[in-house]
Amino acid sequence: MGIEIIKKFAKENNVPIMHDEGINFLMEFIKENNIKSILEIGSAIGFSSIMMANVNSNIIVDTIELDKERYDIALKNIKYFNLENRISIYNLDALDFKSNKKYDLIFIDGPKAQYNKHFHYFKNNLNENGYFIFDNINFHGMVDNPELTKNRNTKALVRKIKTFREGMLNSDYDVRYYKEIGDGIMVVSKKNSEIISLF
Ligand SMILES: C[S@@+](CC[C@H](N)C(=O)[O-])C[C@H]1O[C@@H](n2cnc3c(N)ncnc32)[C@H](O)[C@@H]1O
Repeated sequence: MGIEIIKKFAKENNVPIMHDEGINFLMEFIKENNIKSILEIGSAIGFSSIMMANVNSNIIVDTIELDKERYDIALKNIKYFNLENRISIYNLDALDFKSNKKYDLIFIDGPKAQYNKHFHYFKNNLNENGYFIFDNINFHGMVDNPELTKNRNTKALVRKIKTFREGMLNSDYDVRYYKEIGDGIMVVSKKNSEIISLF
């Protein structure tokens, strides 16, 4: 079984996982910036954590998943890939994860409505020269074109993502917004830390 089986399972069971362009960006970023420790919010069935851990055998990943069923599948997949020594998965609400550990990269891919909350909650877990990465910053193009949805909940979600995006772009952080990559990716670091630009 290769990683393609996990992708197929995700597709058939409507499990949202990162698209090729986004995951390729993430893996390249990890390689170029010599990332060694990663915290991920939103493991789903372990696809992205396995891909990230496979960039290099020194990489350690802690990943959090709220849904028990997905957590169980992720655990099996992680074991299948013999990565249980380097990937630790926690079946928790992200906001119940309490740790003083510092990470080189915090990849936020959990509930989109909570991006701002999660950013502030995990800020202290970021190494001085570390990075946050957020996926789905365009939310299927709806952040810039809210008329694409008529659903009230989706409209509210899209507004939240927009407020978060604008807040970050106007903040004191160093923010790179890769609008054209995947569903929109944002890389955030403290000012003065050096982001190795990929493009
Ligand atoms: C987009 S999926 C993650 C995909 C995964 N990173 C990948 O690319 O393989 C988001 C996941 O976040 C989980 N989630 C939702 N709310 C959460 C919370 N409060 N804490 C932790 N995980 C949560 C969902 O159950 C879902 O599996």
